[in-house]
Amino acid sequence: MEKKRTILVGQSGGPTCAINASLAGVIAKARSEGAHVLGMRYGIEGLLKRRIVDLDEKVPTAQALKELALTPASYLGSCRYKLPDPAADEAPYQTLFGLFAELGVDAVFYIGGNDSMDTIAKLAAYGAEHKSPIRFVGVPKTIDNDLMGTDHTPGYGSAAKFVATAVGELARDASVYDLKSVLVVEIMGRDAGWLAASAALASSRELPTPDMILLPEAPQTLDAIAGKASELLETRNTVLIAASEGVRDVSGNLLCEAGSGAVAKDAFGHEVALSGTCRYLASELKSRLGVKARGVELSTLQRAATHCASKTDLDEAFSLGAAGIAAAFEGKTGIMCTIERVSSLPYRTKIGTIAISEVANAERTVPPEMIAADGMGVTDAFIRYARPLIEGAVHPFEVDGVPHRLPALDPGRC
Ligand code: F6P
Repeated sequence: MEKKRTILVGQSGGPTCAINASLAGVIAKARSEGAHVLGMRYGIEGLLKRRIVDLDEKVPTAQALKELALTPASYLGSCRYKLPDPAADEAPYQTLFGLFAELGVDAVFYIGGNDSMDTIAKLAAYGAEHKSPIRFVGVPKTIDNDLMGTDHTPGYGSAAKFVATAVGELARDASVYDLKSVLVVEIMGRDAGWLAASAALASSRELPTPDMILLPEAPQTLDAIAGKASELLETRNTVLIAASEGVRDVSGNLLCEAGSGAVAKDAFGHEVALSGTCRYLASELKSRLGVKARGVELSTLQRAATHCASKTDLDEAFSLGAAGIAAAFEGKTGIMCTIERVSSLPYRTKIGTIAISEVANAERTVPPEMIAADGMGVTDAFIRYARPLIEGAVHPFEVDGVPHRLPALDPGRC
């Protein structure tokens, strides 16, 4: 009798609303193919410590899979762990491949962003070098939308929908008093402004907003920002600025560092927990313009707000997880599943694959044609690109007035 296939899946990097929908897609498709599904607890870092869960036990039914897809944060836990170059340190690879053999793993799936694709690329390369039959597949996710080789990444559409919704609501709130004020909304996206740009999706004929969008791709001077705010305040009461957490001045310094001091870096050399751009800008604009000013940091809400998720995003995330299994079972390895846009109006996509080596560690930023000429807004090309990604709503069922979630793996610890 043929051995039952075993697959191992992990999640890595910052969570998104859609990362568990991809996990649900992986599990559902693997199960439909009769495979046994194991999960890495806390990504590759946890796996090195033999932290493994049996997902056939933890997520046993179709109902549990549905709940998983609507549960925020990374169900399996996450890490920001960088595997060393095997030529310099082979020990982690020996541990991991030993574990794969012990568990009878046929394929490994890693749901993550560009740093996580570095992990799967290294495992695939090591496996190929050692003639391992194990397949390694990346499933993309990141609210930053900065992965190469895919039209967009799961997680982005939901975060963008939350940002657009929140900015629209904040714009109404900011306009209630008959006095001059500035509101600065800080939005995640370390080095890429895709998510900050999505604030433009809040704009309507009744309430055009935001008035300025500051992106990491378009460094600014404080003089230019204050100058534009001051000019706008001549004809209106309120100026709303959507600012990326990663916006820099023209010398390359992060604005949030000017306000809060140096930011720590992770194993991949990326700044972590950027915070303070809105407070810094609000305080500067208050003193320069002499108006009321407030900073609002959307922070982790923008990647955790499943109650405001985009249906398009969650559906695509599920499909990419399932496509990862299909690709691995067809014998593909060293690849990441991608979304290819066929058309924007009507919105049509298809799923493809790309060599993981082309994706790992690379970054896709907002292109110049989507950025306004003064660098403080976006063009219609961005709106046409982003609008379909936030379409559709999901309705998690409620228990005691709040959305029901799949119970956490270690309920006492979270
Ligand atoms: O994964 C990308 C991201 O969500 C960035 O937008 C943000 O800067 C970063 O993660 C925050 O990471 P952490 O939760 O580790 O502080």
